[in-house]
Amino acid sequence: MGARDMSKWETAISEVVSSEDEEEVIIRGHKLSDLVGKVTFTEMMFLLIKGELPSEGQAKVLDALLVASMEHGIAPPAMMSRCLASYGSPIQAAVAAGVLVFGDWTGGAGEQFAKMLVAHVEMLNNKQTGISDESLRDEAKKIVEEALRTGQRVAGFGIPLHKEDPRAPVLLKIAREEGIFNIYCRFAKLIEEELGKAVGHPIPMNLDGVGGAIILDLGFSWQSARIFIITPRTVSMGAHYLEESGQETRWRHITQDRVEYVPEKP
Ligand SMILES: CC(C)(COP(=O)(O)OP(=O)(O)OC[C@H]1O[C@@H](n2cnc3c(N)ncnc32)[C@H](O)[C@@H]1OP(=O)(O)O)[C@@H](O)C(=O)NCCC(=O)NCCS
Repeated sequence: MGARDMSKWETAISEVVSSEDEEEVIIRGHKLSDLVGKVTFTEMMFLLIKGELPSEGQAKVLDALLVASMEHGIAPPAMMSRCLASYGSPIQAAVAAGVLVFGDWTGGAGEQFAKMLVAHVEMLNNKQTGISDESLRDEAKKIVEEALRTGQRVAGFGIPLHKEDPRAPVLLKIAREEGIFNIYCRFAKLIEEELGKAVGHPIPMNLDGVGGAIILDLGFSWQSARIFIITPRTVSMGAHYLEESGQETRWRHITQDRVEYVPEKP
C-alpha cells in the first residue's frame, strides 16, 4: 500500500473498447452487448461485484434480498430524501443525503455483523475443530455473552418498527430452498436463538442481519454488505423525493415549540 500515480489505473472490472472494428464495453470478460437484454439487473450486479455470473439459485436469493431492501416506509433514508425535496434540492442530492444515513446502527449494521461472522468462522477454521452446529452454537453464545456483559447490542438483531422484521424469515426460507442457507445463515440463526435465550425474549434478526449472512453465503465479502441494502434503497429515496415534490411541500421543519432551550449552567 502506498502513494500511486493518478495517471495509471488497473481494473479487472471492465474495459472500454473503441477501435476501428469495435465499439464495446467488456465487463468481467463479457461483452456488454451480449449481456444487455439477457441478464437481469441482479445478475449484472453479481457479475460486477463477484466477477462471475450467478447460478439460478444465487440470482434468485440475491434478487429477493434486493427486493426486500428496496422500501421501508418513511424511515430515515426516505425521510432525508423527502426533506431535501421540500427544500428544493436536486434529486441526486436528496438520494445522496439518504445514502449518508446508513450508519452503524441504522441500516448499516449488516457490515459489522458480517465482519463478526467471518472473524468467528475463521477462528473456528484455524482451530481446526471442524465447523459443527455445536461449535457454531458455542461461538454464538460467546458473542451474545460478550455483548450483554459490555452493554452492547448484537448488530443485526432488533428493529424499532416491527415486533419481528418480516423480511428476515422470508429471505431465509428462499435461501434454504435455493441451497444458499449455509454456514453464515446457520450461524446467524444460532445467534438469534442464543440472544433470545439470554435476554429472556426473542430479539429477531433484522434486514441488516439477514442481509449480512446471506451475502456471505452467496460468496461476497463482508466489506460489500452495505452495497446490497443501499443500492435498492436509492430507488425508494427517488420515489419518495418525487412524491414529496408532487405534494408541493416547501420546507419541512419543526416548530420552535418542539425545541427546548436548555442553557448550560455557569
Ligand atoms: C435497532 C435497535 C436500536 C432497536 O432498538 P429497540 O427496538 O428500540 O429496542 P430497545 O432499545 O427498546 O431494546 C429492547 C430490549 O432488547 C434489548 N435489545 C434490543 N436489541 C438488541 C440487540 N441487538 N442485542 C442485544 N440486546 C438487544 C435491549 O437491550 C433492551 O433490553 P432492556 O429493555 O433490558 O434494556 C436495537 O435493536 C439495536 O441497536 N440493534 C443492533 C443494531 C442493528 O441491527 N441495527 C439495524 C436496525 S434496522
